[in-house]
Amino acid sequence: MLSVCANQMEIQNWPINQELKKEADNHYRTNLSLAIKDQEPWEIISRLTFDGVAPKLTLIEIKGLFDWVNKKVLKNKLSGIGLELGAGAGFMSAILADRPEVQKVYAVEAVENIVKELGPKITNYVLKDKSDKVIGCIGDFDNLQLSDNSIDFVFDFYSLHHSPDLGKTLRGTSRVLKRGGFVLCFDKTRDNKLTIDDLDKLLDQEYSRESKILMGLNPDIKHTRRQNGEQEYRLSDWEKAFKKNGFDWIEHYHLARVTGNFILRLIKKFISCLPLFIQIKITKILYKNKKVNNLEISNLVFCPPVQNFPKEISLIIAYKN
Ligand SMILES: C[S@@+](CC[C@H](N)C(=O)[O-])C[C@H]1O[C@@H](n2cnc3c(N)ncnc32)[C@H](O)[C@@H]1O
Repeated sequence: MLSVCANQMEIQNWPINQELKKEADNHYRTNLSLAIKDQEPWEIISRLTFDGVAPKLTLIEIKGLFDWVNKKVLKNKLSGIGLELGAGAGFMSAILADRPEVQKVYAVEAVENIVKELGPKITNYVLKDKSDKVIGCIGDFDNLQLSDNSIDFVFDFYSLHHSPDLGKTLRGTSRVLKRGGFVLCFDKTRDNKLTIDDLDKLLDQEYSRESKILMGLNPDIKHTRRQNGEQEYRLSDWEKAFKKNGFDWIEHYHLARVTGNFILRLIKKFISCLPLFIQIKITKILYKNKKVNNLEISNLVFCPPVQNFPKEISLIIAYKN
């Protein structure tokens, strides 16, 4: 069940059902991992975690995002034992594990090649001699091989919208979380007004030619977000799934970048310094009836560390009750 390399991230093999194994083996990321494994760590991160579309993003900014969340949002801070769901090569897990208050992070990922071929290199890049603070788990986030009430916080970076059954995933997550523990999601939430048909249309959107090339796919063959294993969840779907599975719904924020002309940027920069509840009141007036990329526009706050992120992010935090 266990294989360990000296001074490197430990890798665990968790049980994975045949259907998910097949899906993971056929996923474009299985071949992509092999194709990029000899590249520089930052190139791998940029390609895998940010789809190669955030060239200006730096490690310092990403670390800053967690400082921002810790300081401005979380009522219980990031500390103890963490778990990342759909962790890719464990880049975000490593950033979390780099925090002195964080003891270790389990990084669960279904695609074997990502964990084996890229995980040790990426965690070593971020953590150096502390790489053993991340445990790469080749497994299913719906079948967590962790004890009940053993985890302090759970993290998701654009992965939970790959869960075909959010309720099931959150039930398992709630089981392993300690009371008062929380789930921190940087993910997609869609507008509550969207119908099932609207959501279906979004899933049937085809990737652009450029994206398919970056994904290592044949650009002439159709590939949709649905084929990539994605799902679409409205804010109300997230809320329902959390509430039904042992969580208090706590907070949702739409994290926005400071954009626009000089004057607008100045105003938004000023707003970004205010407490979040005041920012929300101001942006509610400023963004009345507006949408950004079909994302829920409510609770919009300006978050300086996401300035160079490729897209706006929804932040959802739910505490286990
Ligand atoms: C959009 S990617 C995000 C990757 C990662 N969070 C990062 O920062 O690079 C979603 C990831 O979730 C993984 N995934 C999807 N379903 C999973 C499951 N049931 N169990 C574990 N990982 C899963 C996919 O293989 C993919 O690597």
